[in-house]
Amino acid sequence: MTFSQDFIDKVRDANNIVDLFSEFTQLKRSGGRLMGLCPFPGHNEKTPSFSVSEDKQVYHCFGCQRSGQIFTALKELKGLNFPEAVEHLANRAGIMLPAEHASTRIKPEVKSRKEKLFKLNSISAEVLHNQLLDLPNDHYAKKYCQTRKLSADIINTFQIGYAPNQWDTLVNHLNAIKAPLSMAAELGLIRKRKEGDGYFDLFRDRLMFPIYSHKGECVGFGGRAFTDEQMPKYLNSPESEIFSKGHTFYGLNETAKYIRTENSVIIVEGYMDLVALYAAGIKNVVATLGTALTPNHARLIKRYSQNVIVLFDGDEAGQKAAVRSLPVLLEEDLLPKAILLPDQMDPDDFINEKGVSTLQEILKSAPDLFSVVLDRYLRDYRGSSADKIVLLNEVSPLMAVMKDSRLKDLYIAEIAQKISVEPSWVSKNIGTPSTRANLAENRHPVTPEMPKDVIGKGARITLEGASRAELFLLNIALMSSERFNAIWQSEIIDNMTHIGVREMFVKAQGYHRQMPNEFDKLSANLMTLTDNPKALALYLGEPMCSMTAEALDKLMNDCIRQVKEKFFRNQTRELAASLRNSPQEERLEKLEQIMNIQKSKHTLRRDRES
Ligand code: GTP
Ligand code: MN
Repeated sequence: MTFSQDFIDKVRDANNIVDLFSEFTQLKRSGGRLMGLCPFPGHNEKTPSFSVSEDKQVYHCFGCQRSGQIFTALKELKGLNFPEAVEHLANRAGIMLPAEHASTRIKPEVKSRKEKLFKLNSISAEVLHNQLLDLPNDHYAKKYCQTRKLSADIINTFQIGYAPNQWDTLVNHLNAIKAPLSMAAELGLIRKRKEGDGYFDLFRDRLMFPIYSHKGECVGFGGRAFTDEQMPKYLNSPESEIFSKGHTFYGLNETAKYIRTENSVIIVEGYMDLVALYAAGIKNVVATLGTALTPNHARLIKRYSQNVIVLFDGDEAGQKAAVRSLPVLLEEDLLPKAILLPDQMDPDDFINEKGVSTLQEILKSAPDLFSVVLDRYLRDYRGSSADKIVLLNEVSPLMAVMKDSRLKDLYIAEIAQKISVEPSWVSKNIGTPSTRANLAENRHPVTPEMPKDVIGKGARITLEGASRAELFLLNIALMSSERFNAIWQSEIIDNMTHIGVREMFVKAQGYHRQMPNEFDKLSANLMTLTDNPKALALYLGEPMCSMTAEALDKLMNDCIRQVKEKFFRNQTRELAASLRNSPQEERLEKLEQIMNIQKSKHTLRRDRES
């Protein structure tokens, strides 16, 4: 599912980032930019610190430090991944999706059948939700919600419902709207009577959790009993044409945006666990549906974040589930951590007893799931040679599925340390040799042209550790093509010490040369290349956004001088160091070089003072 760069460009050009944000927040012009209250989830503010540049089609929030362009905006606002964002923006602008894209879609008749099934579920969800809302406050279902701390807000967000203790609530509603009952029966909502030709409801006297796919389609239900006597505790929709427990996470449609912004996802085992965490403000959560974590689950979640924390009950079942999930997660190259809760508690109990801040603390310091599993395997370990072999046999399958050789090396070292042997012995005997961390693979090559997959994954250029002067110069360069050319031609880039900033300049120059008339797109494009887009949005904020041309000239010259000074300082230091170890005949030459640098430094200083 990839779009051509041309198509992506077309979609981007047809949309205005200001229109998009205006749906979420009120923007007012202020200086050369628009300002408003930050629209992103998790950031509630009273004074505006969110700014957008209409010319450059980029944004930056000075409060939560989020920056980017229209595609990252959709990721933050709606939790859409890149292809989904392209599709969304194409639809918004009325652009037809490319033919090959359309052809991968399901056949029209299948689509409409599935759509009918989704619709039957979503109608039922609404009916049952309204049943709950309409109950008097002293009804036991409402009281149950209170004891489980399900607020009106939460009930609305998750569309929680009530299936009355009757045989025909849904049947009557579906009949009234002439819905196809046989299809509702396929979904496990109702069942045909053995005698006569009527149907009856299958969910009765239960608190209902509608289950949505990550795309927002209503695919099934979980219905919780109100008392311990009522069996089973949860009645779930059966697997159907549109519902597969191994492909679905409860809550994901609502929590995707938080998972993306936090870049981490907590996996829990129950509906109530998810809802309780969400209500307590921990919103980057998904829940499995009473089945083990599958490879499909792992692949699905990987689209949102690589950083996974499994948060399971501390009982035997929870521990076993954690152990089973490890190879599944490792195989998809995820980076799993784990918390096993103490004393038979589940996440909901834990929050109620110890408070959400305690939970947040332990989540922050969660150990790797691998270490948790290793400790479990080590329960019976007494240090004999036989014990070592048993352990090795247990961890071998885990190591075999691991793709990241760096992580594997670390885990091998951990095993070796725990059983007091050399890491090389472990790697030799688990069947898969340890490989050196291949860091070179992840380095971003310096290429003059803009890569075709501007928004592609790839390694991001890091701007961490860049000096203020270097970043200011980069930002000033992005303000106009005149300034860009002035800075590029000054050759100050050669004197910059930060490799990331230099790479950004080189990329920018290549791109600018290719498309000289599209300077305004440079900012948004460069933002997609770095791990730190906010470093490219400094010109949206003070002091830069309100500077006169003269003030900017002065700032630019100051920054150029600072970069040069630092460059000379470094050079002198390096030469001085090598002077000490140089043979006599080279020393004179090096001394001369140092003196030349001192001279340049002097000139620089004189320029500043004049
Ligand atoms: P509470 O116990 O009310 O806090 O709910 P919970 O969501 O935490 O449930 P629990 O930890 O008992 O179980 C985890 C998940 O397993 C549930 O959310 C269900 O998806 C599933 N599950 C639990 N009990 C049953 C059952 O009796 N039948 C089926 N089919 N699934 C169940
Ligand atoms: Mn529970």
